[in-house]
Amino acid sequence: MTAAEAPYEIPADVSAALDPHERRLVLDRRGSTVWDVETERGRCAVKLGYPTAPHAWTALAPAREGVVLRQLGRGEVSYGDWEHGTWNVQPWHQGISLYDRWRPHRAEGASSEPGLADALSCARAVAALHATGWVHGDVQPAHLIIGAGGTALIDLALAHGGEVPAAYDFRYRGCLVHYESPEISRSVLETGAATPSTASDVYALGASLFISATGLRHVAYPDDASRAEQRQAIADGPHRPVEVPGVLGGLIEATLSPRPADRPTGAEVCAELSGGR
Ligand SMILES: Nc1ncnc2c1ncn2[C@@H]1O[C@H](COP(=O)(O)OP(=O)(O)OP(=O)(O)O)[C@@H](O)[C@H]1O
Ligand SMILES: [Mg+2]
Repeated sequence: MTAAEAPYEIPADVSAALDPHERRLVLDRRGSTVWDVETERGRCAVKLGYPTAPHAWTALAPAREGVVLRQLGRGEVSYGDWEHGTWNVQPWHQGISLYDRWRPHRAEGASSEPGLADALSCARAVAALHATGWVHGDVQPAHLIIGAGGTALIDLALAHGGEVPAAYDFRYRGCLVHYESPEISRSVLETGAATPSTASDVYALGASLFISATGLRHVAYPDDASRAEQRQAIADGPHRPVEVPGVLGGLIEATLSPRPADRPTGAEVCAELSGGR
């Protein structure tokens, strides 16, 4: 297998079962190809995982996510193996990501502040997952899809909270560093792995709200810094000053507390945001 073969087509047996009317390539990078597919039975996302040179686990991610989605009862979900790794099919969530939704507020000379309703909707998605006993492990603005009926927290490939068959499981080695909490960064630097928690999800929610509102990462580090240097900057702190006004700013500050125990819970974030409206 070489990266030159990607993007991969939907495997023949998966495609035969879906019988798509239409399909659109959403993304193809870092060991993952995602298709948006229209079928007789509705719209769905088809995710194909394959190994990359630095990461073998990306091949297992779709099946692992399929296991999690099934346990969470997230609609009609299927998963399995294909030539280069694993795949899943899951319901498509119509909406716009938090990052895209707040783009107008980041524009030069923007005159309005991001809405608390969007922040609350995202916080509710995180709190609702936590209420089931699961943690997400990869909260980021692209995984918060704001739709008409609320926010969907997608990409549960790294979630923890239930049993995952050994054949599809892999160690948690941190998330996208732009949303990683200091304790996760520290653990990944020291041991190569970490344990995601509700508190690290809350931190990632705060970093997601912060970057979506301002365009700034939670901690300042050069674009060309290595992953390890980025993690060291996060572990050392401090995080950037949060120059976001009002309730939202105060809340982001609290979620970015260096000590996990000092952060509000997802439910407390929701309470604060609904009280401040
Ligand atoms: N169920 C879904 N509903 C709506 N959009 C989805 C869904 N699944 C994936 N997407 C879209 O595809 C993108 C990539 O999906 P996802 O994050 O699950 O894959 P990934 O392989 O983890 O990619 P990345 O490496 O960027 O995290 C999402 O940001 C979103 O735009
Ligand atoms: Mg993702």
